[in-house]
Amino acid sequence: MAERAVPPRVAVAERGASEAGFKKSCIPEVGRLLSMAAAAKPHGVIAESGTGSGVGTAWLHSGLGAGARLVTVERDEALARRAASVFADDNRVSVLTGDWRLLEQHAPFDVFFCDGGGKRDDPQAVVELLAPGGLLILDDFTPSPHWPPRFGDEVDELRMFYLTHPALDATEVLTTPVSSAVVGARRL
Ligand SMILES: C[S@@+](CC[C@H](N)C(=O)[O-])C[C@H]1O[C@@H](n2cnc3c(N)ncnc32)[C@H](O)[C@@H]1O
Repeated sequence: MAERAVPPRVAVAERGASEAGFKKSCIPEVGRLLSMAAAAKPHGVIAESGTGSGVGTAWLHSGLGAGARLVTVERDEALARRAASVFADDNRVSVLTGDWRLLEQHAPFDVFFCDGGGKRDDPQAVVELLAPGGLLILDDFTPSPHWPPRFGDEVDELRMFYLTHPALDATEVLTTPVSSAVVGARRL
């Protein structure tokens, strides 16, 4: 079956991931969610923790408005350099090298794809970095038919944290039959 083409810059970043042997890039189903979220905030500050080789960044970039900015951070220097080269021609994009907390100086965020640093180690700080109305996207969950959601035999406390956080309107969406993402909007 034919596959829907990905944006050219995503293809460049995917080639970079393959050259680097990096296997944690987001899948196109998540990428299209990222592009849609960025497009919803055409003058926004769009952020990503955990750049990898820039695949998720490229998806965010594909929806980036002319008046928006995109900031992403990666602690692996070689990956950050590789990703930065994909966006060298666009001064709306900043690729930072270091810990995810470097993002704080660019907050509040209108979109935050939290994918490396923050998601598990400081979820409350993640929520606090969102602007009112800001969109949070977290991928790589396993769909669960239960409430509260379970991962294996245990209640997934992390997923519960985001889904029931009083400052968020959040839900879980299937990205494939076997994977899901949590998406939320920060209440005003
Ligand atoms: C799932 S991968 C990112 C994939 C990328 N967002 C994409 O969609 O293509 C997670 C990345 O986060 C980086 N990372 C993990 N912890 C981090 C931290 N505390 N600060 C910055 N980067 C971190 C890892 O080095 C890894 O490259």
